[in-house]
Amino acid sequence: MAPKRMTVPGIRARKGKTPLVCLTAYDYPTAQEIDDLVDLILVGDSLGMVVHGLPNTQGVTLEMMILHGQAVMRAANHALVVVDMPFGTVEESPETAFRNAARVMRETGCSAIKLEGGTEMAPTVKFLTERGIPVLGHVGLMPQKAAMLGGFRTQGRKSEIAEKVTRDAEAISEAGAFAVVIEGTIEPLAREITGRIAAPTIGIGASAGCDGQILVINDMLGRASEYVPTFVRRYAEHGEGARAAVAAYAEDVRERRFPGPEHVFE
Ligand code: KIV
Repeated sequence: MAPKRMTVPGIRARKGKTPLVCLTAYDYPTAQEIDDLVDLILVGDSLGMVVHGLPNTQGVTLEMMILHGQAVMRAANHALVVVDMPFGTVEESPETAFRNAARVMRETGCSAIKLEGGTEMAPTVKFLTERGIPVLGHVGLMPQKAAMLGGFRTQGRKSEIAEKVTRDAEAISEAGAFAVVIEGTIEPLAREITGRIAAPTIGIGASAGCDGQILVINDMLGRASEYVPTFVRRYAEHGEGARAAVAAYAEDVRERRFPGPEHVFE
């Protein structure tokens, strides 16, 4: 029997219950490895940095998101797959956001989209959700707006910023988002927002009190990356493992130890 896929109402219903397990994935083999272990897979625009080596997420295009979304969707049968809307595709107007989000959903088959933004994006979140596009919100540290926020800085230390992040989370939740990512926000604030808003919160560099957690998979698996945020716990060292394997292969080839008799056809 085909596995049952996690649904948007299923994610919503986890508010205050067993924490949601979420990870990013950008390709078919990774989605295959994690699909039955997580509740939600995000095809994040972090792929611009961790897969394509871009300096930030601002160069990511809708076409890149669709291509990676399609690869993930071919492998994921259990987790809810959410595709991130890249910079410049949702900000102009709710109508433009709808056109672009509908294209992402139609061409990838994903269940929902994610967009960054607070009070200024609430009318767009309402417009999309009322027209059948489930939205995962994203407040606090918003990488697409890093330049405006003064870099990748933890949010909420100053009271006016803490109030803004709270207003943003409330506005996005009230506008109909089925869950809200809170990124890079001081722990007590993320915990307080979780208690205040109706939508489940998904923390990253936020609080264990959030209704779920998400990490960029390349960071937690220790895949090659120059910069790893301090809030990441590394559960593996794939980058080192891969380098050791390739070094062993290179030596075997140079010493004519590979291919062995079992790898050739008599
Ligand atoms: O793009 C991304 O991977 C994200 C997560 C860090 C939440 O937005």
